[in-house]
Amino acid sequence: MDHFAYKNGVMHAEDIPLPRIAEAVGTPVYVYSRATLERHARVFREALDGVPDKLIAFAVKANPNLAVLKVLKGQGYGADVVSVGEMRRALAAGIAPEKIVFSGVGKTAAELAAALEAGIGQFNIESAEEGEELAAIAEAMGMCARCALRVNPDVDAGTHDKISTGKADNKFGVPIDEAGQIFGQLAGLPGVEMRGIAVHIGSQLADLAPLERAFGKLGELIEALRGAGHTITHVDLGGGLGVPYKRGEELPSPAEYGAMVARVTKGWGVTLIFEPGRVIAGNAGVLLTRVVRVKRGLNHPFVIVDAAMNDLARPALYGAYHDFVGVEPSGENMTANIVGPICETGDTFAMGRECDRLAAGELAVFRTAGAYGATMASSYNSRGFVAEVLVDGDRYAVVADRIEAAAIMDAERVPEWL
Ligand code: LLP
Repeated sequence: MDHFAYKNGVMHAEDIPLPRIAEAVGTPVYVYSRATLERHARVFREALDGVPDKLIAFAVKANPNLAVLKVLKGQGYGADVVSVGEMRRALAAGIAPEKIVFSGVGKTAAELAAALEAGIGQFNIESAEEGEELAAIAEAMGMCARCALRVNPDVDAGTHDKISTGKADNKFGVPIDEAGQIFGQLAGLPGVEMRGIAVHIGSQLADLAPLERAFGKLGELIEALRGAGHTITHVDLGGGLGVPYKRGEELPSPAEYGAMVARVTKGWGVTLIFEPGRVIAGNAGVLLTRVVRVKRGLNHPFVIVDAAMNDLARPALYGAYHDFVGVEPSGENMTANIVGPICETGDTFAMGRECDRLAAGELAVFRTAGAYGATMASSYNSRGFVAEVLVDGDRYAVVADRIEAAAIMDAERVPEWL
C-alpha cells in the first residue's frame, strides 16, 4: 500500500499531481511520499509487537536521503550504517548514536575510530581480524566498543546471487561453526565488549523459510555461547524482507515475518535489532521521467525516456523489474521496449513490456524506486545526479538538488604540465 495513485486521471504523490513536480523541478526526479514511509515504518514496528525488547535500525544504504532519515527518526527508528558517510548522515538527521549499528566487511581503521568517537551503539564485527583491530583501536583511545559477531549461517536465501549474503562462500560474517571459538577469542580482549551476534542472509527475500532456518541456527549458537560462560544481550536479525515489484505479486507480509520472529526467538531474553531497508522505503518512492521520443523497433517500439541506468541501476545490474506506468494514461496500451539514453544496451529498463501507450513529451514513472534507487546513481555518460523530492500531503520540497554534469566537471583538475 502506497500513496501514489491516480486522481482525475493524473498520478499524484499524496495530494500533489506529478506533472507539477516535473514542471518545477525537471525530470528525471525521484519523488518520495512521507505518508508512505511513515505507514511502512509503523506497519513494520507493529508487526513486531510480539517482540518485547527491540531496536529497529533502518538500513541507510536503501535510502540515505537526510529528509527520509529524519522522517524515520520521527518513527523512533535507529540506523544500520555501513560507512562513516552513512553514520554522519544518520547523526545529521538527529538519530541518537546509541541507535546506530555499524555493519560491513571493510570498515577501515579511520572509520572504526570515528564511530567509537561518535559513541555508536554497536559494531557488527565481520571477522576475527576486524575484531582484533577494533579492540586495539578502542583500547588506545581508552574506550570499549560494544560488539556483536556477525555469523554466516550458510543458508541459501533464494534471492538474486548479487544480493545474497548468507551462503558459506559469501564474504560476510564468520562461518557459524567457527563463531564460538572466534567469539571467545575476541571476548578476552580489552577494548571490546562482545555482547551479541548478528546475521543478514540477503535482500528481497520472497520466502520466510531460509530466514527461519538462519534464526534457528542463531538460537543454537546463543545457547552454546551462554554455555561457554558468555553473556549475550543483543541479537541483530538483519533486514531482507522483500517487496512486491510486480502488480499482484505476493510476498510474506511484515505481520507474517513478525509472527515468525516472535515464535523463533521466544525465550532468547535479548534485545533484538532489525535492519529493514527495502520494506520501508521501496514502495515509498517513484522515479518520474519524461519520454524523449518513441523510436520504431524491429518487434516493438523503443520508448526512450530521459532516465537511464545511471539514475536507476537495478534493472541493468540485477535484471530487476520496475513497474512502468504513464502519469496521465489515455487508457490505451502498447507493447514496448523501455530504454534510457545511455550508450550501451544494458541501459534497458524492460523489453517487450505491456504498458500504457506513451508519446514523446509525456510523463511516466518507474514504481518501487524508493529503495536502492537514487543512492546507487552514477554520473556515467557525464549525466548529472537526479534531484529528489519529498511530498507531504499538499506540500512538497526538493530534498536533494540536481547535481548538474557541469558541477561534476568543475571538480576535475587538469594538471598544468598537460
Ligand atoms: N543489513 C545488512 C547487513 C545488509 O547488508 C542489508 C542490505 C540490509 C540490512 C538491508 O536489506 P533490505 O531490508 O533492504 O533487504 N542494491 C540491492 C540490494 C543490496 C542489499 C545489500 N544489503 C538491490 O537494489 O536490490
